[in-house]
Amino acid sequence: MRKKIVAANWKMNFTANEAEEFVSNIIDSINTDEVDVVLCGNFTILDRINNLLDGKKVKLGAQNVYFENKGAYTGEVSSQMLYSLGVDYCIVGHSDRRGLFNETNEIVNLKVKKLLEQGIVPILCVGENTKERNDNKTFEVIENQITNSLKDISKEDVKKVIIAYEPIWAISTAGTGVTATPEQAEEMCKYVRDVIKNIYGESVSEDIRIQYGGSVNSKTANEILNKDNIDGALVGGASLTNEFIAIVNY
Ligand code: PGA
Repeated sequence: MRKKIVAANWKMNFTANEAEEFVSNIIDSINTDEVDVVLCGNFTILDRINNLLDGKKVKLGAQNVYFENKGAYTGEVSSQMLYSLGVDYCIVGHSDRRGLFNETNEIVNLKVKKLLEQGIVPILCVGENTKERNDNKTFEVIENQITNSLKDISKEDVKKVIIAYEPIWAISTAGTGVTATPEQAEEMCKYVRDVIKNIYGESVSEDIRIQYGGSVNSKTANEILNKDNIDGALVGGASLTNEFIAIVNY
């Protein structure tokens, strides 16, 4: 039985004070054994948030990492640095980073490997854009992203990875005003599982956890999270408000 995992992707929101205030207000309502809960903040707030999670079940996540250990990489942050701050999870390959910061599958692959080496769980994002969907390229794009982002990662390691299927056209800040139906989300999360099955076999595909992300809110969470192949949600906009409590307690 795969345990559900709900992760907040706060993106570039919240100063340390704002995050501290928000987490203090919601922590008792999201501190549950029923689902794994992860708060992914920007680098500047991780330490302060971690202090609030002491003794709680809620875990700390980052939104990015660099794939080298140390050296002349001005402005970058290593997996070891994240680990030393108490980070357990890290988002990689989010469409913001693929789109705005030219992150390729090859770079994402290096980051996934580095996180696994450090014992941090990668939340690997994949997803097609509007044009790719309209051109009937969705399956091809997703297969390609998964295959190349997980290149040379062993069966044992891949089971630790969380895959987040996030269609770019359904992300709230994409501004399309379109959301995926729970059926569309389930169809694609099942497809992600099939791709994993083709590469790693049935048992790995049954173990690996697959989240859906894209405009998940308190109204849609229950239906989405009850789908067979959806093991959780990666939540952007709604994770910045009390909506997040309702999503965690779907
Ligand atoms: P959203 O963002 O929930 O605001 O659509 C999800 C994401 O980008 O991870």
